[in-house]
Amino acid sequence: MTENNKSATLNLNGESYELPIFSPTVGPDVIDIRKLYAAAGVFTYDPGFTSTASCDSTITYIDGEKGELLHRGYPIDQLAGKSHFLEVCYLLLYGVLPTAEDLENFETTITRHTMVHEQMINFFRGFRRDAHPMAIIVGVVGAMSAFYHDSTDINDPRQREVASHRLIAKMPTIAAMAYKYTIGQPFVYPRNDLDYASNFLRMCFAVPCEEYEVNPILSRAMDRIFTLHADHEQNASTSTVRLASSSGANPFACIAAGIACLWGPAHGGANQACLEMLKEIGTVDRIPEFIDRAKDKDDPFRLMGFGHRVYKNFDPRATVMKQSADEVLDLLGVENNPLLQVAKELERVALSDPYFAEKKLFPNVDFYSGIILEAMGFPTSMFTPIFALSRTVGWISQWKEMIGDPQNKIGRPRQLYLGETQRDYIDIENR
Ligand code: SDX
Repeated sequence: MTENNKSATLNLNGESYELPIFSPTVGPDVIDIRKLYAAAGVFTYDPGFTSTASCDSTITYIDGEKGELLHRGYPIDQLAGKSHFLEVCYLLLYGVLPTAEDLENFETTITRHTMVHEQMINFFRGFRRDAHPMAIIVGVVGAMSAFYHDSTDINDPRQREVASHRLIAKMPTIAAMAYKYTIGQPFVYPRNDLDYASNFLRMCFAVPCEEYEVNPILSRAMDRIFTLHADHEQNASTSTVRLASSSGANPFACIAAGIACLWGPAHGGANQACLEMLKEIGTVDRIPEFIDRAKDKDDPFRLMGFGHRVYKNFDPRATVMKQSADEVLDLLGVENNPLLQVAKELERVALSDPYFAEKKLFPNVDFYSGIILEAMGFPTSMFTPIFALSRTVGWISQWKEMIGDPQNKIGRPRQLYLGETQRDYIDIENR
């Protein structure tokens, strides 16, 4: 950040305080309040962090008004169109697009770390078969610190890099194993002759009884979905990973915390909730009923897949995802998918309704992803695990950035206390 000798003046209780202002390379200035409490004896108040920068970062930038998303400066639509997920992983981790040699070395490293410790299979067997795959993944990823002791010392840069590679490499295997376990099919081992997305599709859909041919169109769509979910500034799950990491916890435990946070329907669980909502709507003629419910203050129902804390015009990922939905469903011969028809009509009706325009509610990344994933053969319970698999590189990149920051300190927010002032204990006979 650049010290620009600008400052904000706070006048409080007859005193005035100069608060430094820092300017970013792009985006809003920030007011540095780190010394505010020591100087003025007051906290700031911002539940949900709607106006609070928790850190500085060089990884991802979002312009909510313009609908822009940059990863290390590269626009998401260019990366989705011209790059592929493992190259985007390299970009997020190391800050630059790799040379052909660096990319080959990175892809070889990731490919050769896709197997999990064989003992982990017993860990899976402890779950009920009807467990949600996210419940399994949270447990298994957290347990990785019990299997990979040689990459838990966060003060060793090499161990940090090994842990990063292991998590990126093994998340598809763990997610596929969680899926296979819930449907009672045998686990499928990864193969080193397949690319990342093809490996994941095969581990999910292959069975020992026959050869599995990866459909290149589906693996390209899968890879694009991974790319579109890779990182997204300081969203709830990334902030969870950063806060957990600030205590010095090992990377596997911190990523498990991020997975747990992502699971919520307001965040990464929205893709599952969105598809279930589209199924509940069922037909285009029922859309007005749900639009009315979404607008009704007394009804907790919200249009899943709509709205965003930062994007107030459109989510650029949704734009790319919508194009992908058309391509994939057309190629699968399900272009007349009733859910897609409902989704497109719901988007049209919602965007023409003043309520949504006033509140700047637009389809987000989760609105179309579920339609593609269902057409590819995934159950809705696998939608958030696929989001978690994709976001692991973002969590890890942000984790590495934070751990490597000499200013890194444990996160410990304060509060506005509205409880009782001190009072004496009352013995039970006197209550
Ligand atoms: C992701 O942060 C990220 O970057 C997240 C993410 C990522 O990549 O990491 O982009 C991924 O989580 C995308 C969002 C997925 N969630 C959903 O689709 C769930 C539905 N959306 C809402 O829950 C909501 O829009 C949020 C949680 C996404 C954003 O909530 P905010 O920013 O806290 O906004 P808000 O709840 O304060 O809503 C503002 C107003 C409210 O009305 P008023 O109280 O002002 O009258 O808009 C209304 C809300 O009631 N509103 C909606 C709505 N979303 C907000 N009304 C109907 N349907 C909706 N979906």
